[in-house]
Amino acid sequence: MTPSPRVSPEVARGFKQAAAAHAAALVEAGMAVGLGHGSTAVEAVPVLADRAGRGELAGTVFVPAARFMAEALRRHGLPVGSLDDRPELDLAIDGADEIDPNLDCIKGGGGALLYEKIVGQAAKRLVIVADAGKLSPRLGTRHPLPVEITPFALASELRFLAGLGGHPALRLRPDGDPMRTERGNVIADCPFGPMADPAGLAAALDARGGVAGHGLFIGLAALVVVAGEDGVRELRR
Ligand code: 5RP
Repeated sequence: MTPSPRVSPEVARGFKQAAAAHAAALVEAGMAVGLGHGSTAVEAVPVLADRAGRGELAGTVFVPAARFMAEALRRHGLPVGSLDDRPELDLAIDGADEIDPNLDCIKGGGGALLYEKIVGQAAKRLVIVADAGKLSPRLGTRHPLPVEITPFALASELRFLAGLGGHPALRLRPDGDPMRTERGNVIADCPFGPMADPAGLAAALDARGGVAGHGLFIGLAALVVVAGEDGVRELRR
């Protein structure tokens, strides 16, 4: 599938809607379904609400990874649950910032990476939805890696990330203060460049106490639904 290098926002939104609608069709009555964050995944919500309105999703409950998604679900009258009620999810639908040919991803552009990973790992199947512009030959080519840091450890972890070649930059709010995640942590965006060994980097970050989470989703996506100028395609591992 050809990436879509430059398309208008309207066309890009159409791709996002097409990918999200395709994934929403995988949801069945009675399922527990995780939903991540972002402008693509949220496009699944109105489709799911239509299906629920037609009586197709009796007993289905949705577990959002972010307040943004919880609000969208509630606005559309869909039932919101938690991992406490449903520790194992049948399916999770989420977006991504970059996807490589192994279906490994960089996520966290919207800052919800920690809970998105928890929800994705709780699901039997994580379905990533994206426009074709997110496809990449090698992770790190198109998007910096978001790393979530416990504020107590900030200076040490920035030093650690710099030592790994991550060139970390603290993500800031418009007023110049550090952006805080829903956990109260901060995010360093790390333009590593094309990664030779994303799994090795993920392991190094996982081993670090002050790193609360990172956007490398290795081996997690079961299915990627990509929409582009040549239609909607399913990419499988
Ligand atoms: C948020 C995410 C998003 O899924 C990712 O940033 C993609 O967002 P969008 O669909 O808006 O491009 O990981 O933390």
